[in-house]
Amino acid sequence: MSLKLSYCKPDDAPQLSEITLAAFEVAPRFIVGHGKVPRYVQLKRDEEGYRKSIASQGDPNAAQQKHCLKVTDPTTGDIMAFAIWCWLPNGYKTEEDSQTQVPDAGFPEGTNEALVRDLWRMTGQLRSEHPGRREEHWCECLFFLAFLTLLTRSVLSIIGTHPKHERKGAAGMLICWPFERADKQGKRCYVDSSVTGYKLYKRYGFEDVGEMLLDVDKYNAKSGYGVQRWVAMVREPRKII
Ligand SMILES: CC(C)(COP(=O)(O)OP(=O)(O)OC[C@H]1O[C@@H](n2cnc3c(N)ncnc32)[C@H](O)[C@@H]1OP(=O)(O)O)[C@@H](O)C(=O)NCCC(=O)NCCS
Repeated sequence: MSLKLSYCKPDDAPQLSEITLAAFEVAPRFIVGHGKVPRYVQLKRDEEGYRKSIASQGDPNAAQQKHCLKVTDPTTGDIMAFAIWCWLPNGYKTEEDSQTQVPDAGFPEGTNEALVRDLWRMTGQLRSEHPGRREEHWCECLFFLAFLTLLTRSVLSIIGTHPKHERKGAAGMLICWPFERADKQGKRCYVDSSVTGYKLYKRYGFEDVGEMLLDVDKYNAKSGYGVQRWVAMVREPRKII
């Protein structure tokens, strides 16, 4: 089966929201951070955010140029997976990145705010560590913020495959999407990887440049999930001969 990669349309938002929940609801940081937020609230919030993100694609004045992409099964038309790649300009500063600014309020009831705030802050820190990030670059996969950015802004950056479509190569297609451009322009690609995505990014040439550890039991002593790890990874541009 040959899969199809294309840009998302605003009407894809409900499906993206369903995929997001299906893909992430088993992750410990999600269970502890958002597990008590009713499902319909999560779906609605994500859907709104995706609509905004998709609608703002191609806005030349946006600080973060978003590219919302989907992989579909050509026989059924179902969206199997999606990702949002952001193009970040020269002079990137984590403290000015709308993806890493913690909102003061507006968290849905049931959110474990302490966990969410710490994760957000740590991501900002992680992103400030590698000097290459201050140059123009591609950035993907702000996994845990996907559920929160909708509170105050429309930026999302994420990759997810619906569990029923895993291991068919959909995420691989989405991960490789910016490589041709990045290589031509001599630019780097960055991801913040969870343990699930790590092997896949390695396969496509990403290397570790930092790590973030979070003991989720600190936020819910009974959870028993312990320390969770995320890795900042970079893909250096290949020389085109
Ligand atoms: C990680 C993820 C995007 C992979 O999607 P995919 O479309 O199945 O990926 P591909 O088919 O292109 O590649 C398959 C590889 O993905 C990884 N993978 C896929 N499903 C996986 C699962 N359930 N558990 C662990 N790794 C998995 C493996 O490395 C696999 O390679 P392998 O078959 O040789 O072990 C998908 O499992 C997902 O959305 N997971 C939940 C959300 C998440 O963690 N996103 C990544 C954040 S960095």
